[in-house]
Amino acid sequence: MLESVWANDVKLPEFESLQGDAKTDVLIVGGGMAGLLIAHKLTQGGVDNLLIEADRICHGVTRNTTAKITSQHGLVYDKLAKMFDDDTAKVYYQANQDAIGQFRQLCKDIPCDFLEQSAYVYTKAPSKTFDKEMQTLQRLGIPFAQTKDTQLPFPVQGAIRFRRQAQFHPLMFAGAIAKGLNIKENTRFLEFDGSDAITNRGKIHAKCIVMATHFPLINKHGCYFLKMYQQRSYVVALEGAHKLDGMYRDADNKGLSFRSFGDYLLLGGNSHKTGKPTTGWKSLENAAGQYYPGAKVAAQWATQDCISLDHLPYIGQYSKQTPKLFVATGFNKWGMTGSMVAATVLCDLLEGNPDPYENIFSPSRSILRKQLLVNGISATKNLLTPTAPRCPHLGCALKWNPQEHSWDCPCHGSRFGKDGKLLDNPATGDLPSEP
Ligand code: FES
Repeated sequence: MLESVWANDVKLPEFESLQGDAKTDVLIVGGGMAGLLIAHKLTQGGVDNLLIEADRICHGVTRNTTAKITSQHGLVYDKLAKMFDDDTAKVYYQANQDAIGQFRQLCKDIPCDFLEQSAYVYTKAPSKTFDKEMQTLQRLGIPFAQTKDTQLPFPVQGAIRFRRQAQFHPLMFAGAIAKGLNIKENTRFLEFDGSDAITNRGKIHAKCIVMATHFPLINKHGCYFLKMYQQRSYVVALEGAHKLDGMYRDADNKGLSFRSFGDYLLLGGNSHKTGKPTTGWKSLENAAGQYYPGAKVAAQWATQDCISLDHLPYIGQYSKQTPKLFVATGFNKWGMTGSMVAATVLCDLLEGNPDPYENIFSPSRSILRKQLLVNGISATKNLLTPTAPRCPHLGCALKWNPQEHSWDCPCHGSRFGKDGKLLDNPATGDLPSEP
């Protein structure tokens, strides 16, 4: 089955669609974890707001996450220190630690299987990058422990452990905070017109608009189509595999991730750029057979992540030219803590308060990074590929994905079912039916 284990056992609250024109102080576009947390925080702060969602809330990536709440994002700290400086790396850590603290606080009152766990990033072979990460963590004063003692089904060369991280049930949490928010479902954002958002149900006049739509939908500003690409990765839920304490992730981006949920072991991995050939769940099934013989695949699903140019999300003013338009995107696979960081930063900005983290996440920071060239070359190549069908976002050639029976766009990751129905943005509509 292709539904995640989260989607199986939660009934989310339902909301009616927008009926005609409306007015609000802050309009939030997108009903995933980021949008809901922003709306929740604004509501707590007494700020008038309205959230619109094109489908049902948590219909997109939030239902497909592995729901790890952690500041350990692979080997990110050495990369940030090199690409920016030590201060940026430290602020990134602090912002994510704050996010964990806020989840911990909120989850005291929300039954959502919140569980404190250690997070581990492991390496199976000697690795200079891994050693450098430990040196950088030490230099930055970030608390960690080095260990070889894990509950993984294979020996490791080493693992970096962050204590007091957490995991939870994302839809139980999201469903609980959504109750009582001002939400309109089945209300699709179509375009931005100064202080107005045009939707398929009416026009919404707002003092400020926040785009929390996973990939931002407005192409005219901010150049997000150059600043990001999307990656796909796969998860299987195993029944009959032993339970793990801790959340684990391979230091190599192509490796496996592990966490338990109830009686399931969630095994994730096989990441690739959306639109590239993939073996889908096959390699996870092989790994499951090798490490947990006798375990059975009870569920399998895939998820999609926006990858920024420089390992930092884009949170803040959408572009220098749009003072009333804001964005939260590019969480680089760490969407739970990223969403909470986004809610904190954006609520401060929207309420006119200084925020200690806003500078490092500013979407207007330099885009002069190697990845920009890679994104540009790939988009040009795919734009010039003369095959049909074409992606309605910016016109790239779509690739057939035989694993998931979908048409996937290698440029920015839009996806469509074999019937042409939109599955993943930034495209905002279905494929045109054949003449
Ligand atoms: Fe941008 Fe397809 S997603 S061209």
